[in-house]
Amino acid sequence: MNDVTSPHGVVVAVANQKGGVGKSTTTVNLAAALVAKGERVLVVDTDPQSNATSGLGIDRRTVEHSIYDVFMGERPLDEVIAPTTTKDLFVVPSSIDLAAVEIELVARYSRERLLANAVAHMEEKFDTVFIDCPPSLGLITVNALTAADEVLIPIQAEYYALEGLTQLLRSIQAIQTNLNPQLKIEGAVITMYDRRTTLAAEVTAQVRDHFGDTAYTTVIPRVVRLAEAPSFGEPIESFDPKSIGAKAYRSLADEFRRRHGRA
Ligand SMILES: Nc1ncnc2c1ncn2[C@@H]1O[C@H](COP(=O)(O)OP(=O)(O)OP(=O)(O)O)[C@@H](O)[C@H]1O
Ligand SMILES: [Mg+2]
Repeated sequence: MNDVTSPHGVVVAVANQKGGVGKSTTTVNLAAALVAKGERVLVVDTDPQSNATSGLGIDRRTVEHSIYDVFMGERPLDEVIAPTTTKDLFVVPSSIDLAAVEIELVARYSRERLLANAVAHMEEKFDTVFIDCPPSLGLITVNALTAADEVLIPIQAEYYALEGLTQLLRSIQAIQTNLNPQLKIEGAVITMYDRRTTLAAEVTAQVRDHFGDTAYTTVIPRVVRLAEAPSFGEPIESFDPKSIGAKAYRSLADEFRRRHGRA
């Protein structure tokens, strides 16, 4: 948690090597909810699946320059930033080429710090920079955790939710020791919560037990509108601002801002 008001923005990696837990959904919708509160936000998509890119209305087939060019040292991050349909919300798109980047960078000097170098001055231009990570603990996620001030961990409220968390926390520790001593765990947020099941409540209790105050009070419910919004290329905040999902992400944004001394 960060309770010091900073004139600069903060870089937050949204990570969990487990697939389909709500990383991209949380990145896109928390970003848009923060914009609705008056922030200027950048989403850096580092997943070759490009879900955050398409969720923000960018057709991945028309992307000319992407985070791939940044990793390859062919373009500075500034030149790859694209506007979205939401004012004050910007995206660095991803592309499928990124799938090969781990191999292409195998012999590159300081290859864990490429993203950190690329985002270095973004904190002066944006209040919050989110890095949406792919579902692995490979070189791309290492780059994201090295570039970030904080890591936000979405956890799906389901039976195997806590499986793999030990690995993630161990990786975070390894990054803190070797690459980025400043890295903090910003929070853990429960996603896809179904209040009809007792299992969801049990998982939530376990996460609270495990993370204490780091666990967000806000829980993101499982609601169809959140799954529909990306196919329209819009965050829930503009797609259906009155929906339960939009309210949940606004509540998460309020908590996020309180944690960062902004509200
Ligand atoms: N709160 C929710 N309610 C309903 N559906 C959701 C919710 N959150 C996410 N989803 C859906 O669940 C799927 C996985 O979500 P998402 O893509 O955000 O996860 P992810 O962790 O980014 O996945 P990956 O690991 O593949 O990158 C998507 O189809 C998404 O639309
Ligand atoms: Mg994703």
